[in-house]
Amino acid sequence: MKTTVFVFHPHMNDSVVNKALAKAAEETQVEVRYMYDMYPDGKIDVNAEQKILEATDRIVLQFPLYWYSCPPLLKQWEDEVFEHGWAYGSNGTALHGKELMLAISTGAQASDYSKGSRFNVTIDELVLPFKATSQLIGTTWIAPFVTYGALGIEPATLAAQAEAYVATLK
Ligand SMILES: Cc1cc2nc3c(=O)[nH]c(=O)nc-3n(C[C@H](O)[C@H](O)[C@H](O)COP(=O)(O)O)c2cc1C
Repeated sequence: MKTTVFVFHPHMNDSVVNKALAKAAEETQVEVRYMYDMYPDGKIDVNAEQKILEATDRIVLQFPLYWYSCPPLLKQWEDEVFEHGWAYGSNGTALHGKELMLAISTGAQASDYSKGSRFNVTIDELVLPFKATSQLIGTTWIAPFVTYGALGIEPATLAAQAEAYVATLK
């Protein structure tokens, strides 16, 4: 099974968590694509992206949570790459049967993402647009891999999380 990790982080040089997770994924021979490095001008090569997706069995979208959502290049990538007649519509079957997983880091703690808490919303609720997209494009939804409390994360916690990520990707 071929897994491809698409990393959408606008400031990868300053990243702690996404950098560590992506590096751990690379060490397991999983293909990791740094999308902001690839498309610094925001001009996405739709054809190339579709070819890569067609050759992948498991699509992992990795990103830091920004304003309870994803960084803008990921949204643009979805808008442009998931074309009608390719990803959806009566002839749009290119992604059918593949797996889709999100790998998200949050600055806030896990306890903030529950009902009655500071944000009063769960991560499962926040990712509903991705879940609905997965339904439309015919992929199998895998529960998100979430790293909470990314700001000031302890090195040992991050190492354990990287290990858990690798185990999930394998
Ligand atoms: C513009 C911006 C918006 C953010 N919005 C959120 C948010 O809505 N919820 C949250 O928990 N953290 C938020 N954060 C914190 C990031 O999620 C956090 O810095 C990131 O996950 C850390 O990962 P990294 O070490 O790979 O950069 C935000 C950070 C930035 C810069």
